[in-house]
Amino acid sequence: MSTPAPKAAQGDAKHLYTIVVLGASGDLAKKKTFPALFGLFKNQYLNRKTHIIGYARTKMDRATFEGHITKYIKLKTNEDKAALPKFLELCSYQDGQYDRDADFQNLEKRMVEVEKSSGATARLFYMALPPSVFIPVATSLKKNNYKKGVVIRLIVEKPFGMDLESSRQLAKELGALFSEDEIYRIDHYLGKEMVKNLMILRFANVIFGSVWNRHSIDNVQITFKEKIGTEGRGGYFDEFGIIRDVMQNHLLQILTLIAMESPVSLQAEDVRDEKVKVLRFIPPIAKEDVLLGQYTKSADGKEPGYLDDKTVPAGSKTPTYAAATLYIHNERWSGVPFVLKCGKALDQQKTEIRIQFRDIPGNLFSNLARNEIVIRVQPNEAVYVKMMNKEPGLGMKTIISDLDLSYSSRFNDSVIPEAYESLILDSLNEDHSNFVRDDELDAAWKIFTPILKTIDRREIDPVPYAYGSRGPAGVTDFVAKHGYKRS
Ligand code: NDP
Ligand code: BG6
Repeated sequence: MSTPAPKAAQGDAKHLYTIVVLGASGDLAKKKTFPALFGLFKNQYLNRKTHIIGYARTKMDRATFEGHITKYIKLKTNEDKAALPKFLELCSYQDGQYDRDADFQNLEKRMVEVEKSSGATARLFYMALPPSVFIPVATSLKKNNYKKGVVIRLIVEKPFGMDLESSRQLAKELGALFSEDEIYRIDHYLGKEMVKNLMILRFANVIFGSVWNRHSIDNVQITFKEKIGTEGRGGYFDEFGIIRDVMQNHLLQILTLIAMESPVSLQAEDVRDEKVKVLRFIPPIAKEDVLLGQYTKSADGKEPGYLDDKTVPAGSKTPTYAAATLYIHNERWSGVPFVLKCGKALDQQKTEIRIQFRDIPGNLFSNLARNEIVIRVQPNEAVYVKMMNKEPGLGMKTIISDLDLSYSSRFNDSVIPEAYESLILDSLNEDHSNFVRDDELDAAWKIFTPILKTIDRREIDPVPYAYGSRGPAGVTDFVAKHGYKRS
């Protein structure tokens, strides 16, 4: 069953947009952007007159373009099959360089042409591009496709810089061209259903409010695991490493939503003010609070090690696994370790948050395990609470059990939207709450830049771990050192 569109969103964003996907020939455009736009279209969240123009340097005829943008679109129902040709009628492609005015003028001609027929008064530019061309493209857009009186929105993909200095430089250059109001920095984890649920779980349930602090919570674990390695992306990945790729953005966003105070309202600036505030309470990560790993061949020798990838420089010390403990020096969280763990080529694919409570005082019962609230972001979205229960029967034995809200059983007739659908819709509705603000980014980089510089100077040797394993030896000790007790 598909999710019915709420009335206000039936393609009725404040303005009618023309959408331009820059870098339309690329991987993200093919895997995420166009499938998300189709998802919005078929569920009637996109105005039926919205034109979508793909732009990139590659020359592509109509058939190649259609093949590219539909490759990852899943047609599950007859309605989906019927919707696809209608969606494709709205899509067109134009090739051009990223720094040539004449090409952006041609794009302008195409935009004016489609806007004449659609009546669109707003433009959304989606930069599905490598960061090296963000500024040339933004400059070309500003010069050739920015019109007074036309609403402009610019979606920018991560990475937003490499460290505090480069992020500030990027912000300065982008800020000279577009206002903060016009810029939407995507962190796609903010579009994930369970991440969007965090504020509701925390602030719409009285039972959690009073225990959500250092008096009751011992430690928080936020874990991202992927089974695949960096196959095919080794060259890109080596420049960044797992901390920049996943931890500094996706995991830190989750931490922020777990730890921030209640915002005054759900207005974007109120939410983002609280996020920035909590980030500013976190000091830079200490070297002794980090464990790094790099994967080697799988135990059976079938899967290659990170350094076997020809695009990875020989002897690279780039981490493909990282665990780091952050502390929030405020009244609510002082002394509570927030352990972030992420890695590629591991034994499972999952993202989850595990909030572990303190031990029960006294010794009324034996065999007690700690309470935990587990929020599984993916796969198989779920919230469950680990709690002690009496083992049924004549004795008084304790047993650990789950209060389980698994989406597959409770919401099995709902379709969970893709993160990118949710975020593109937010940008069309001009809602910034799930996008990263410039000062938020600054605060995030301040936490990570010193440790990243230490890593970039090759001062930390990553611990090897086999492809497909749980991660580097020492992970169990690392989390135990930071308070985690296995139940
Ligand atoms: P690609 O490498 O596929 O690049 C997108 C397009 O940009 C290419 O088709 C190419 O188009 C053009 N391009 C590539 N390299 C260069 C270059 N050096 N100079 C100029 N143009 C270039 O990137 P992705 O689509 O994978 O990613 C786009 C953005 O999205 C990046 O910022 C990435 O970090 C981010 N991202 C990607 C994800 C993914 O799943 N792929 C996930 C999350 C974020 P042409 O040659 O036709 O002009
Ligand atoms: C991206 C990272 O931002 O997130 C990738 O660059 C990672 O390395 C991906 O695989 C994970 O996203 P998801 O939605 O598949 O969990």
